Amino acid sequence: MKKNYIICIGILCGFLSISCNTSSEEINDITTNTVTTNNGLDETIESKVDSLLAIMTIEEKIGQMNQYNGFWDLTGPQPKEGAAAKKYEHLRKGWVGSMLNVRGVKDVKAVQKIAVEESRLGIPLIIGFDVIHGYKTMSPIPLAESASWDMAAIKKSAEVAALEASAAGINWTFAPMIDVSRDARWGRVMEGGGEDPFLGAKIGVARIQGFQGEDLSANNTIAACAKHFAGYGFSEAGKDYNTVDIGTSTLNNIVFPPFIAANKAGVKTFMNSFNVLNGIPATANKMLQRDVLKGDWGFNGFIVSDWGSITEMIAHGYAKDGKSAAEMAANAGSDMDMESYLYVEHLANLVNEGKVEERLIEDSARRILRVKYELGLFENPYKYCDENREKSVIGSKANKEAVLDVAKKSIVLLKNNNKLLPLKKEGQKIALIGALASDKNSPLGSWRIAADDNTAISVLEGMQQYKGNSLVYAKGTDVSIGNTAFVTETKINTKDKSEFGKAIKVAKEADVVVMVLGEIGFQSGEGRSRTKLDLPGVQQELLEEVFKVNSNIVLVLNNGRPLAIPWADAHIPSIVEAWQLGSQSGNAIAQVLYGDYNPSGKLPMSFPRNVGQVPIYYNHKSTGRPTEPAPDIVFWSHYSDQENTPLYAFGHGLSYTNFEYNNLKIKPKNTSANNPKITVSIDITNSGDYEGKEVVQLYIRDLFASVTRPVKELKGFEMISLKPGKTKTVSFELNKETLGFYNNEDQWIVEQGEFEVFVGGSSDKTITSNFELK
Ligand code: NOJ
Repeated sequence: MKKNYIICIGILCGFLSISCNTSSEEINDITTNTVTTNNGLDETIESKVDSLLAIMTIEEKIGQMNQYNGFWDLTGPQPKEGAAAKKYEHLRKGWVGSMLNVRGVKDVKAVQKIAVEESRLGIPLIIGFDVIHGYKTMSPIPLAESASWDMAAIKKSAEVAALEASAAGINWTFAPMIDVSRDARWGRVMEGGGEDPFLGAKIGVARIQGFQGEDLSANNTIAACAKHFAGYGFSEAGKDYNTVDIGTSTLNNIVFPPFIAANKAGVKTFMNSFNVLNGIPATANKMLQRDVLKGDWGFNGFIVSDWGSITEMIAHGYAKDGKSAAEMAANAGSDMDMESYLYVEHLANLVNEGKVEERLIEDSARRILRVKYELGLFENPYKYCDENREKSVIGSKANKEAVLDVAKKSIVLLKNNNKLLPLKKEGQKIALIGALASDKNSPLGSWRIAADDNTAISVLEGMQQYKGNSLVYAKGTDVSIGNTAFVTETKINTKDKSEFGKAIKVAKEADVVVMVLGEIGFQSGEGRSRTKLDLPGVQQELLEEVFKVNSNIVLVLNNGRPLAIPWADAHIPSIVEAWQLGSQSGNAIAQVLYGDYNPSGKLPMSFPRNVGQVPIYYNHKSTGRPTEPAPDIVFWSHYSDQENTPLYAFGHGLSYTNFEYNNLKIKPKNTSANNPKITVSIDITNSGDYEGKEVVQLYIRDLFASVTRPVKELKGFEMISLKPGKTKTVSFELNKETLGFYNNEDQWIVEQGEFEVFVGGSSDKTITSNFELK
């Protein structure tokens, strides 16, 4: 029997229930001396919240729990008829705590003014918006940024987003999405950090730090929101909003880690999710919200429902009507109702009937007011409403430079045979082919509500700046978009090959062909799941036709999810993963193609060989039959028509130079499982011709455990920069946080036994060694 060391058990958090009688003047008097309490709360703020709660009516407290959409933009189903009039009436009554999708200083000021100047207590609104990958100056989509593995760049990108959003009146973003997902069919993989909980946690924290900054009360930082709690990334068959059924081990070890890290990083809010988790909607899930998040993890902020997720419990078959949905959500710990209109309608009656305890309403209101105080909204409700700042900050040169930097770092070089890349800067005839090459809209991605259409730099524009070569462009074909919302341009003529001839002609005459193919920005994102992962429309045919006349092709992929491109991998010499890279997309791609930036990105999600392999992920379990027992014996875990491995593995990404890994050392080779500390070191040499960056990755395998462990788990990574011929030693420390796991009793344990260590530049290209815990 192995010995288990229980490392951490949850901390329980109680409700604060101090109250005192204070006038509203006193409430608005802000004391600058702050004292921090033992549980991380600011006493000054806590006493202000107490004072305010003491004079609020039950309806006003419930009002804080009510969030309405604005009057123009929509990011969910249409609101009810007559909703606008109700919103104004409720704002005046102090029955609205927050609004979303109100943006721009003028509009934010208008609604804030009603709340602050016309309601009885003048409590300011918190203004939420989906600032997912930028506000107006767009960063790469989050999945792309995650491919940078560069936490400083990711943080900077969130900082820029916060800077612009806050200048437009917004003080709360519904980001980061930290749902781990293994299913490329799910459209929302574009919004997350990929398939790995360790990398996903680091990325989530970097983004939270970027949004919230060091000082949440500054006017250029905004509250972040860890979403969607929990399990949304495991929607069955990758179909958005679908059922989630996962076991304790997956929930604890794969889904929760980024949320645990987000809470530790001080994220101010969480959003629950649309899905049912093992039969219980997340919105009414007491285990998730009250027991785990607010209980065990001691979360002090508030939980907002997802759009209409309270009312959707009726369709789920969990609540019989709106009133019981409100009752279940409030009792389970959902603090704020986004667009269900149910809290404001039913909670007061539910309290009167004794179905929802008043102390729970008080706790929710307290959590919401706390964040408002922390933002400094009581001090100055119009602090984000400065027209001059709005004009000077949004779209500034510095912001464009910052998003260009992260865009370059997000590009992944998937393949580069015969050193076709980087392109020579002079004397070449280049044919640029593909509708996406001239597209100025698609690179802005899916969550770009505030961006101006057609403002991205296209690949054509980016490449035109390199004047030493001749460059000719042909569209070839359009890109299929299927049936999707928010699309202003019609590009659905997918079978049309009438432009093939022109593309083939320019390809024939060129030295090198650059083809930009893939998905448009709106093919991924919320409600945009796909059953196919190939190149949409007739793009695959176009690629094959062009290849017949010129095989010197650089394929640049634009996409919001992993695609399955086995033919391209078998035939095309160079393949560049360029996602949807935001406002500076074309500049970033051109700089990589011409070698002004040596690509350094690594895949945050496995790329399958075909859709039938999905879900495919590197940190899978072994199974009892992992290898072929003998030639032609079929009884092992595999497909009869496809390999088990992905086309491109998690962590894969090439450079224009080469890196060699040598001298893997582990110290000590044996140590106690009680508080272990193991140092892993490795020498990396740049053996190629270019200076370059490499993400050194460390994986482990716990060979035997009381709950089976994955065949590999990422436990460390470091980005290094090396000049040709130079060597660097990188060291990692493994300890109880990285060597343990949650057992099925929710305990974090480190077990005795042998561990394997893998280090390399990709999850599938590593050198190995081992150690033992005794
Ligand atoms: C629904 C999405 O699931 C969520 O992520 C988003 O923040 C809200 N709509 C608000 O737009």
